[in-house]
Amino acid sequence: MITLESISKVFHPGTVNENLAMDNVSLKVNPGDFITIVGSNGAGKTTLFNLISGSLFPSTGKVSIHDKDMTRIPEYRRAKFIGRIFQDPTLGTAANMSLEDNMVICSKKGFKGIKMSLNASKRKFFQEELKPLEMGLENRLKDNVGLLSGGQRQALTLLMTVLSRPDLLLLDEHTAALDPRNAQIVLDLTQQFITDYNLTAMMITHNMKHAIDYGNRLLMMDKGHIILDVSGEEKKRLTVDALVKKFHEIKKEEYATDEDLLVT
Ligand SMILES: Nc1ncnc2c1ncn2[C@@H]1O[C@H](COP(=O)(O)OP(=O)(O)OP(=O)(O)O)[C@@H](O)[C@H]1O
Ligand SMILES: [Mg+2]
Repeated sequence: MITLESISKVFHPGTVNENLAMDNVSLKVNPGDFITIVGSNGAGKTTLFNLISGSLFPSTGKVSIHDKDMTRIPEYRRAKFIGRIFQDPTLGTAANMSLEDNMVICSKKGFKGIKMSLNASKRKFFQEELKPLEMGLENRLKDNVGLLSGGQRQALTLLMTVLSRPDLLLLDEHTAALDPRNAQIVLDLTQQFITDYNLTAMMITHNMKHAIDYGNRLLMMDKGHIILDVSGEEKKRLTVDALVKKFHEIKKEEYATDEDLLVT
């Protein structure tokens, strides 16, 4: 459904700050994939999402969505296909607006299959959708979103994003700013939504256990490359120890290479 073909991204080309953040990456995301992505800081994980969502254009290579060439299509024209959630819980909702107003605005983007009009049944619909979050938000429709906790706010963002039924859900460390309990709640909701709505999703995480426990496929990125891509039974057999070991092996190799460079 999403295909990246030989994508490279160079920041600040031709300057001393030139940085090859994505180096000839090819990737095919299949419908129904739930892909977890790990990799150290600066590996290129967020850049990968930026290239998929269209907030960045690649220097070379091709991005296709549903077999259509979208390489130069701007972000706002891909928004109906792609839902994105960031690490910062304040980014997905407007703080100084009520829950219901936030949901109305989001519904204008189109809760697929649901016709929205400004009436009591709409409010009822919001309440019904908020109830399963088990955070009591169904009783707080008039409260400003800024009053919610980070976990509540991220759960609301997740719900609003999922209701617009994106073809692809991009989660960029979306639980990293939450305490462990809220992180688990939001992760459980994420899993539930992905299953219930049969979504295709990609989730960046620094938590190796989460990367192993969730999803059907795991990518490891390093220095602008995808250095590991495992799925199915192989993914199920992965352990945190094996993944951490792999991670350290790469780091050691890089260190060794750096040392070699210093010697020669
Ligand atoms: N807009 C930009 N302009 C210049 N350089 C950028 C830009 N975005 C990312 N980079 C650089 O590209 C590289 C990859 O960054 P990216 O944000 O994709 O890493 P990441 O894997 O998401 O890391 P983290 O785990 O810290 O979020 C880094 O060297 C970063 O400094
Ligand atoms: Mg990042």
